[in-house]
Amino acid sequence: MVIRVALPGDAQELALLGERLWRKTYGGLIPARDLESYLAEAFGLERQAAELVDPACRTLVIEADGHLLGYAWLRACAPELGKKALTCSKPLEVARFYVDSSLHGTGAAQSLMGAVLAHAASVGHDLLWLQVWEQNPRALRFYAKAGFMDAGETVFLVGSRSYRDRLLVCEVQTPAG
Ligand SMILES: CC(C)(COP(=O)(O)OP(=O)(O)OC[C@H]1O[C@@H](n2cnc3c(N)ncnc32)[C@H](O)[C@@H]1OP(=O)(O)O)[C@@H](O)C(=O)NCCC(=O)NCCS
Repeated sequence: MVIRVALPGDAQELALLGERLWRKTYGGLIPARDLESYLAEAFGLERQAAELVDPACRTLVIEADGHLLGYAWLRACAPELGKKALTCSKPLEVARFYVDSSLHGTGAAQSLMGAVLAHAASVGHDLLWLQVWEQNPRALRFYAKAGFMDAGETVFLVGSRSYRDRLLVCEVQTPAG
């Protein structure tokens, strides 16, 4: 198993992986109409290809036996917090973090998060942040183990509905500090 930066040539496989893992994670938990509408809007080859060449984005993938089995999609941006402010100057969003169920509990997700932290530190980000559905206990536990702290409630729109998320943050240790 290797973890590497995704390249433009990965667009097709990554688009299929992203849709498959999103469907597997939330299928049956949210209304089918909302799920399909979100998948149509947020995934697909064209969108994936654009994300892979967007300079504000970076995608790290887990590859095993020539197949992609997980990914972290990173975006250099700050959360919208209204009046609250984050004490950081260069935040990085972990906009998606998905690992195939065949690798759950194996340490692969920890390795991927380790690679995310190493990338963030190497380009000078001082904070990772992400949103996670409050009804995703496995992910909540995983992020807590990885050092993320709860920074409050937020929402995520899927189709016609909004879902309550937790906003989590993790300080990035820079090589100097
Ligand atoms: C979230 C994800 C990356 C974590 O990777 P993982 O390999 O499953 O994580 P780990 O097994 O190391 O850790 C999961 C922890 O949750 C615990 N857990 C599992 N199911 C749980 C549940 N229903 N309630 C509470 N804790 C649970 C596990 O016991 C483990 O904790 P432990 O190590 O203290 O025993 C992976 O499960 C995944 O890709 N899930 C689907 C996509 C997803 O939800 N992504 C996050 C979107 S924000």
